[in-house]
Amino acid sequence: MDSLDRCEPAGRAWIAEAIRKVEADSNRSADTHLHVFPLPREWGIDLYLKDESVHPTGSLKHRLARSLFLYALSSGWITEGATVIEASSGSTAVSEAYFARLLGLPFVAVMPRTTSPEKIALIEFQGGRCHFVDDPSLIYAEAARLAEQTGGHYLDQFTYAERATDWRANNNIAASIFEQLALEPHPEPSWIVVSAGTGGTAATIGRYVRYRRHQTRLAVVDPEGSAFYDSWVSGDPSLTAPGSRIEGIGRPRVEPSFLPAVIDRMYRVPDAATIACMRWTSEVTGRSVGGSTGTNVWGALQIIKEMRERGETGSVVTLICDGGERYTHTYLSDDWVAGQGLDPAPHLAELRALLDRPASTSAPGTPKTDVRPLGARPHG
Ligand SMILES: Cc1ncc(COP(=O)(O)O)c(C=O)c1O
Repeated sequence: MDSLDRCEPAGRAWIAEAIRKVEADSNRSADTHLHVFPLPREWGIDLYLKDESVHPTGSLKHRLARSLFLYALSSGWITEGATVIEASSGSTAVSEAYFARLLGLPFVAVMPRTTSPEKIALIEFQGGRCHFVDDPSLIYAEAARLAEQTGGHYLDQFTYAERATDWRANNNIAASIFEQLALEPHPEPSWIVVSAGTGGTAATIGRYVRYRRHQTRLAVVDPEGSAFYDSWVSGDPSLTAPGSRIEGIGRPRVEPSFLPAVIDRMYRVPDAATIACMRWTSEVTGRSVGGSTGTNVWGALQIIKEMRERGETGSVVTLICDGGERYTHTYLSDDWVAGQGLDPAPHLAELRALLDRPASTSAPGTPKTDVRPLGARPHG
């Protein structure tokens, strides 16, 4: 009788200990806040921001990195001493470098040479090494090549993001949002608005709301230069595009983790509007937010505008993906913005007017719009 025993007690013990370390890290961490965004009370619509910038590594990618490590460890793909490699536009690599260090593993991020200096510094701070490519479309092949060369493991967020996270619940971002809304006036949001990098966050939320039989719809906002929007509209997954200027979101190709069927609505958001909305959100909330948060809030405001036009009340949720401190040399720099040929000023004026002007439904002469401070319970 042929037989082969591949039991490796030392290897299994290492994996068990690695999983314990990742789970213990999670156990020490708190959930992220769901802030109330101050909209005029008389609109009857509550906007909430799920603040993913407060994770230990500063972005929503902390959740993805934890899921990808647990998935790879449980699948037996990461073993003791293996080099861990990722293709990333930056944020994911910051979080993955953190988990690699937690497990005592070398980490290499394969990134476009244009990645912001702030993100490079953060990856290096977490003990990771950055490996640059001139053509952003080559990050995947280069990461696979490095994994082959080193005998390491390529985490491949763009393929595995949609399956590494348990979409049924298990403390995923969707379950957390619904739990935190439980005592609110509209606990089942009419819409959740997210942007897509891998598409993993959209996949988790879209599957969760269907599985839990919620009425909530999912909107995805996409920046200029991304392939997602045109592909979703046309149904052609092979479309490509030049690539996005908004770090972390919008891709030159339709990533495998982007699941079009779970998305109810898409918007293409101009980059100047994203930058204006990023700055305005920071002004209004007193929290410095990153570029993709500007895209998200812009999309949420479009949805709220449409809800108001239809006379609907309800709640809308979107995400603070990361903080503005990562973008001081780009979206927060007037020189950089002007150098890109972008003019956020008209959008900023429009946004500022939004909260200054009495709602259109108010009678002429009504007092100035009542704006709730951030964090206050809606409807008092
Ligand atoms: C700053 C930022 N916002 C949003 C996203 C989008 O998240 P997802 O990859 O789940 O689509 C990313 C992804 O890289 C990101 O880095």
